Amino acid sequence: MKYNKLGNSDLAVSSIGFGAMSLDVNQPLEAIALVQYAFGQGINYFDTADLYDNGANELLLGKAIKPFRKNIVLASKVGNRWRKDGSGWDWDVSPAYITQAIDNSLTRLQTDYLDLYQVHGGTNQDDFEAVVDTMEQFVKQGKIRYYGISSIRPNVFTKYCKESNIVSNMMQYSILDNRPEPYFPLFEQSNVSVIARGVLAQGVLVNKKAKCYLDYKEDEVANIQGQLKAYSQIHYLNEIILPLAYVLQQKEVSSALIGTRTVHQLDDILHAYRELSPLDFDVFEFRKSFYKDHIS
Ligand SMILES: NC(=O)c1ccc[n+]([C@@H]2O[C@H](COP(=O)([O-])OP(=O)(O)OC[C@H]3O[C@@H](n4cnc5c(N)ncnc54)[C@H](OP(=O)(O)O)[C@@H]3O)[C@@H](O)[C@H]2O)c1
Repeated sequence: MKYNKLGNSDLAVSSIGFGAMSLDVNQPLEAIALVQYAFGQGINYFDTADLYDNGANELLLGKAIKPFRKNIVLASKVGNRWRKDGSGWDWDVSPAYITQAIDNSLTRLQTDYLDLYQVHGGTNQDDFEAVVDTMEQFVKQGKIRYYGISSIRPNVFTKYCKESNIVSNMMQYSILDNRPEPYFPLFEQSNVSVIARGVLAQGVLVNKKAKCYLDYKEDEVANIQGQLKAYSQIHYLNEIILPLAYVLQQKEVSSALIGTRTVHQLDDILHAYRELSPLDFDVFEFRKSFYKDHIS
């Protein structure tokens, strides 16, 4: 496993990250075993959010990582505040709320610090200075080591890149979604790493049935699946290599954050990842044959 520096931090995250959102909180023993297996395979970067299962995901991850907490990069997110009646959530990044939320996340995760705390989105209406001041205070208090954002909105993440000390931006990025690409120079200049999510497009780029994705119609997605399969067969490649290579070949991307539910799925990913290094094809050139440009 390769480990990559996250922005200008001293954190090194595994090229394959573990997205905890797909863990099944109703199957805790299996979920804990999966997390521990991932760690044993060299994955050191684990991502959750207070939003997922209304805190239950953090609770579960906290149990699973307890034996090796100090050896991993632990990330969570804040900003989506569950309503008291559990009917959904509202955006809230007020200092009062975040200050309460970080302590709740730390308690659930059974730790006294997070390596990375991410603003789970963001809007132009947020009080940017107040959010950044609060994050900086958390750093001073030792509650977090670094902060980042998870945003695909250029007007939001550009401000964070230029006017705060974020080290990362989590973005949906895959063969089917190239929207982050025009901003790579900004991230490079600002020393902000991209954490790619949605790399497998919820499994559509692996073996799931084609479905509409962004402005691709179902038959277009099916056609792309066919091309990926054919290309992989001709070049004797594991089929999961192409989606992984597509994001990991970009120097701005520090980790491909993958959500897996089973050891079998994770093994498929790791198997492909281990075959990825000696790649001698240009995945971007290949993509041109079918790519629909989402950059507007
Ligand atoms: N806004 C945000 O900040 C945000 C939003 C979404 C996700 N995330 C983070 O990103 C992580 C990844 O989530 P994602 O939405 O980007 O998911 P993803 O990695 O695109 O897809 C995950 C899904 O892909 C399928 N999959 C995984 N490995 C597979 C394999 N070997 N073979 C077949 N199918 C496979 C599984 O689907 P099945 O379960 O159907 O089998 C899994 O649930 C999350 O866990 C979370 O930490 C953050």
